[in-house]
Amino acid sequence: LKTTQHMTNIVLFGPPGAGKGTQANFLKDKYNLVHISTGDVFRYNIKNKTALGTLAKSYIDKGALVPDEVTIDMLNAEVEKNTDANGFIFDGFPRTTAQAEALDVLMSSKDSQINAMVALEVHDEVLVKRLLERGKTSGRADDADEGVIRNRLKVYYDETAVVADFYSAQDKYIAVDGVGTIEEITARLSTVLDTL
Ligand code: AP5
Repeated sequence: LKTTQHMTNIVLFGPPGAGKGTQANFLKDKYNLVHISTGDVFRYNIKNKTALGTLAKSYIDKGALVPDEVTIDMLNAEVEKNTDANGFIFDGFPRTTAQAEALDVLMSSKDSQINAMVALEVHDEVLVKRLLERGKTSGRADDADEGVIRNRLKVYYDETAVVADFYSAQDKYIAVDGVGTIEEITARLSTVLDTL
């Protein structure tokens, strides 16, 4: 890994369907960052029927969080795979304060840090609409029914939203309006990333 001065590490935050994955795909190329989506890594493991996948599936299908210990170990391993990275976009991690603390420890061990949490703000009805729409074609079990989508939102508000306070306390929290076209939102995020 590069030294602190050269690495830019972003937590891209927001509720399910906020556009984290969509935007990370543009930003990773634009800023030459490694995109780590914990949801994507879990889905890869589910598809390949690994032990991690089997365990994760039992939580994901209900819209619940995978336990911290398993998720943190997995995230650490993903970061270790990318020793040449200029920096990371973390998408879907951290989702609990324990995960945020573990990420700080991990970044410190690399002589680095999280520069900012950039949070996409989108209201619930738009989120539900986007996810139901995607569920028609994505094959994602957790998009298939509105009850599971609503549970993911509840879990977000009950367990994950508090992670914003962790970064606010470090003066690293930046909110961005996540409603608009994909291009408009990429432009808003770029304005923020250009300052980091
Ligand atoms: P994860 O894969 O992270 O899912 P999520 O947070 O629910 O996020 P999504 O992928 O649904 O939404 P997104 O914000 O990335 O939006 P996207 O760009 O896809 O996690 C899945 C599960 O894994 C969790 O529920 C949990 O069980 C487990 N998990 C993952 N990480 C964990 C962790 N750290 N700890 C514990 N458990 C963990 O966009 C959504 C849709 O909207 C797409 O169809 C897209 O095309 C569309 N869209 C995007 N932007 C726009 C726009 N501007 N206008 C119109 N449509 C748009």
